[in-house]
Amino acid sequence: MDLTPRYTLELKITGDGSHTLFIPELNEHYHSHYGAVTESLHVFIGAGYDHVKTGKNQINILEIGFGTGLNAYLTWLSAVKDNVQIRYFALEPHPLPVVICSDLHFPPYTDSKESKKTFLLLHESPWEEWTPLDDFFALLKIQQTIQQYVSAGGFFDLVYFDAFGPDVQPDMWTAEVFKKMFAALKPGGTLVTYSTKGQVKRNLKEAGFGIEKLPGPFGKREILRAIKQ
Ligand SMILES: C[S@@+](CC[C@H](N)C(=O)[O-])C[C@H]1O[C@@H](n2cnc3c(N)ncnc32)[C@H](O)[C@@H]1O
Repeated sequence: MDLTPRYTLELKITGDGSHTLFIPELNEHYHSHYGAVTESLHVFIGAGYDHVKTGKNQINILEIGFGTGLNAYLTWLSAVKDNVQIRYFALEPHPLPVVICSDLHFPPYTDSKESKKTFLLLHESPWEEWTPLDDFFALLKIQQTIQQYVSAGGFFDLVYFDAFGPDVQPDMWTAEVFKKMFAALKPGGTLVTYSTKGQVKRNLKEAGFGIEKLPGPFGKREILRAIKQ
């Protein structure tokens, strides 16, 4: 597997004290510079996982853009607390080297030596095969683009759509891609994302989703939750 980063990756501290990575060539961060942990907890855990978990003891999640593994890690911690089993399937064409991930700090969730070790399991685990990391969390990381991905129809309860922004990577936010996400979800399934751009909303609707705007985390007015009706 080629782990040579395509771009320069700079470690940055966001507004809530957690790290993110910044790509100068794209002028783009992996997370909100107002707070990486705050954003992940609000958009993906709060509006996504917490919304979907009611009445379920197993949840299948698809993440578009595994990146630093922050969304996966916070989902894992939530699942242990809630006694819910997660099957977490993540697409990432450009996996981050473990040496970069070991410098990442997401307080308070990586404060202890033990928690940092747990976080790094996400990165050290093999690619392309289902790996149970404990009784609650099984991970499958696939080195593939969303464009290459052929969906297992109707398998997922929840999609974390965490691509780089639509201005930087417009080919991630097309109706064609969202149709793939729609097909991958079970009926009634949920997709959450941080972008509320007009074209993103129109493309989600064209793909068949019903959309709901929700208040955003600090520094962002609104976020989106889309439901496969
Ligand atoms: C905004 S970052 C978010 C990453 C991650 N969710 C996190 O919390 O660190 C976007 C991610 O999408 C990945 N990506 C880029 N092109 C992609 C593509 N065509 N298909 C799927 N993922 C892609 C990037 O490599 C990057 O890891």
